[in-house]
Amino acid sequence: MKHLLKLGDLSAEEITEILNLADQLKYEQHKGIAHHHLAGKTLGMIFQKSSTRTRVSFEVGMYQLGGSALFLSSRDLQLGRGEPIKDTARVLSRYLDGIMIRTYEQSDVEALAEYGSIPIINGLTDYCHPCQVLADLMTIREYKKVLRGKKLAFIGDGNNMANSLIVGGLKMGMEVAIASPAQYRPDPGVVAWAEQNGKLTLTEDIKEAAKDADVVYTDVWASMGMEGEAEQRRAAFEGYQVNAGLMALAKPDAMVQHCLPAHRGEEITDEIMEQHNDEIMDEAENRLHAQKAVMVLLMK
Ligand code: CP
Ligand code: NVA
Repeated sequence: MKHLLKLGDLSAEEITEILNLADQLKYEQHKGIAHHHLAGKTLGMIFQKSSTRTRVSFEVGMYQLGGSALFLSSRDLQLGRGEPIKDTARVLSRYLDGIMIRTYEQSDVEALAEYGSIPIINGLTDYCHPCQVLADLMTIREYKKVLRGKKLAFIGDGNNMANSLIVGGLKMGMEVAIASPAQYRPDPGVVAWAEQNGKLTLTEDIKEAAKDADVVYTDVWASMGMEGEAEQRRAAFEGYQVNAGLMALAKPDAMVQHCLPAHRGEEITDEIMEQHNDEIMDEAENRLHAQKAVMVLLMK
């Protein structure tokens, strides 16, 4: 593994290696055992979109690993004024030991990896969110003990989260069901891949997706960059909500996951957010541990 650009690039063995190391790093951190695997190393964090979890968990993670992290807003970088990605990649490779980037186009992340000479980590694009799904798989494994054979139902937009959950879930032997309006299905390339690689159900019926699910997952109806479509999406996604009625169809011990930020009253009710708060906050915490594992494996 040289980069983390998308989960499709990783084997099931590599994902398991990340999850196992993440568990170990979590244990050590909770026990107060120092693990300065990246002493003296610096991660650059390029943000073209907002972030709470990704920014803080990467920055704190680097600190806990004995290194440091630089927050690089694209508003301040020359990148924001049109400096080409290839020059940015080459220059930053001379200073840094790794780059995490959150941006719009997946091709920009791929270009950084192509022209730079240091590990690149995808911190979310319009296409995928691999770091989030590594933390999700870690959390589901904590609660359910195994991933293989568990059913994950995703309710809502066939967005970056849906794409990464399909790939990560199927690679780990999970069954994935996506309920979305027909015009908001996941990426066709991901769907085509899934047809050859496991059990994926696409439906417009949220009840069909949620039936007997072990994990019920949702995300916002309008992702970052789609704010202009919020009104139209609110109409299209009406009814695509995780609420008590829907949870009654899932397994009695089903867990709820949300990458956050959540829009209570839209894709999920306040009641369900509060009832499943522990699981959702463990999921958020696990961003830290999963990303530390990725950084150790890529940058040590
Ligand atoms: N889930 C997630 O990536 O959160 P942020 O947008 O706050 O980083
Ligand atoms: N789908 C959301 C995820 C945020 C973590 C977005 O892209 O805005």
